[in-house]
Amino acid sequence: LLLSTYLTSCAEDGSRGDPGADKTKAAACIACHGADGNPADPNLPALAGQEWHYLVDAMKAYQDGRRSDPTMTHLLETLTEGDLEDIAAFYASQQAK
Ligand code: HEC
Repeated sequence: LLLSTYLTSCAEDGSRGDPGADKTKAAACIACHGADGNPADPNLPALAGQEWHYLVDAMKAYQDGRRSDPTMTHLLETLTEGDLEDIAAFYASQQAK
């Protein structure tokens, strides 16, 4: 039973987030992080090609205060977990340059 629970949760995990679903959800992010997650300004973090889990966790961290950056917290505060997962899937699927 334990094993099957584990396998099921892994399978669900792998299918989370839809990279095609929303480029539009990432529209507010383009100005800083670039249309494909490669920012024009080298001082801003690149999101392209980063791990999906890393991106979801980083965004949640801005929401729950584990990370503090006024801009990011403000931009992410209205997004749901599903939004974060889609955005993360989009950026994770982009090619880092
Ligand atoms: C006004 C510029 C700006 C906009 C717009 C912006 N960001 Fe950011 N973002 C930043 C900066 C600056 C940081 C680094 C903050 C820090 O030091 O924690 C950052 C960090 C991040 C990180 C963490 C990256 C890492 O490698 O740890 C993620 C993920 C992220 N942003 C996602 C988004 C998403 C998704 C959006 C759109 C909803 C967005 N950002 C919009 C400026 C911006």
